[in-house]
Amino acid sequence: MTPAHGREPIPPGADVSRPDAALVVDHLTKRFGQRAAYEDVSFEVGYGEVFGFLGPNGAGKTTMVRTLGTLLAPTSGSAVVAGIPLDLEAGSHIRARISIMPESPGLYLRLTVAENLECFAGLYELTDIRERIAKGLQAVNLTDRANDLCGSLSKGLRQRVALARALLNDPAVLFLDEPTSGLDPVATRDVHELIAALRDQGVTIFLTTHRLEEAERLCHRVAILNTTLLLIGRPDELRERLFTRGLDVRTRVPLADPGAVFDRLADVQGWDQSASGSYVLQVTDPDATAPRVARALVAVDADILSLVETRHSLEDVYLELVEDDVEAQRR
Ligand SMILES: Nc1ncnc2c1ncn2[C@@H]1O[C@H](COP(=O)(O)OP(=O)(O)OP(=O)(O)O)[C@@H](O)[C@H]1O
Ligand SMILES: [Mg+2]
Repeated sequence: MTPAHGREPIPPGADVSRPDAALVVDHLTKRFGQRAAYEDVSFEVGYGEVFGFLGPNGAGKTTMVRTLGTLLAPTSGSAVVAGIPLDLEAGSHIRARISIMPESPGLYLRLTVAENLECFAGLYELTDIRERIAKGLQAVNLTDRANDLCGSLSKGLRQRVALARALLNDPAVLFLDEPTSGLDPVATRDVHELIAALRDQGVTIFLTTHRLEEAERLCHRVAILNTTLLLIGRPDELRERLFTRGLDVRTRVPLADPGAVFDRLADVQGWDQSASGSYVLQVTDPDATAPRVARALVAVDADILSLVETRHSLEDVYLELVEDDVEAQRR
């Protein structure tokens, strides 16, 4: 599949000065009454990028998807979606160039898979419908289920039909709102593989998720939102920004005097005993320091079980930012 942005005519008002940006969000705010769903949010997403939008319940993720999908008007700020400035007149132009897979698939359960897709292709006023449906079904490995009633499919398969539907118009930006929510591990892995395949084909994807391992595995960059945008960057960048680097050391028996070993090493800035025989050392360059630590341990006859760089997951980053947030706990 090729992203549509290279082939479709550019509509009037399109921002041709930023051909590289699939999404430009500039100080965008959406309020419902006095309450902000999201506030003063700015970010950009490049074509071909898989961008993760993470945040706790009520953080404003779906509201952002609905805003960028022209289903809700923002309260203030501006955005450019697939090259088109977001305003009332642009709605139909934008909707023709994007698609949204919502939190619940919303399929007609008494229609077959193919009939569902035909119905939506009709709404989009697409041409070469048969070919598009065949391509969509192939992309989600459902060709052999085309004539099954949607009502007879499992949740995981329905999610795949919804993904096929979202691919029908060959979108320049594909919005996936929690695509694996409620799926079992096997169905989740299947959806992850489909998303990874789309990513490898260069499809631009805006993915909201609670599953941090999903974001870590699939996304080039992630944003962490909690009404306001807390942090944005590559998962490894975020880890480095929030945490000092370290080495995890385990010895077969606890060291008699760990301070005598670690305090002598100039490039160990500090250390802590995390459990009996387990130590966490703060260092700036784990690769350079690890061999020195190993030599120091061998010099005191310690049996090393492991000596590895401390790994902080995206989950650690997320919890560090969101866990203590009183606002988040109220939702
Ligand atoms: N139509 C609406 N009218 C009033 N308030 C709304 C409306 N839609 C969303 N909200 C509020 O906006 C805030 C953000 O909701 P949103 O659904 O965008 O969160 P979310 O990050 O998608 O959450 P979840 O992880 O539960 O899907 C919430 O406080 C919600 O109650
Ligand atoms: Mg949501």
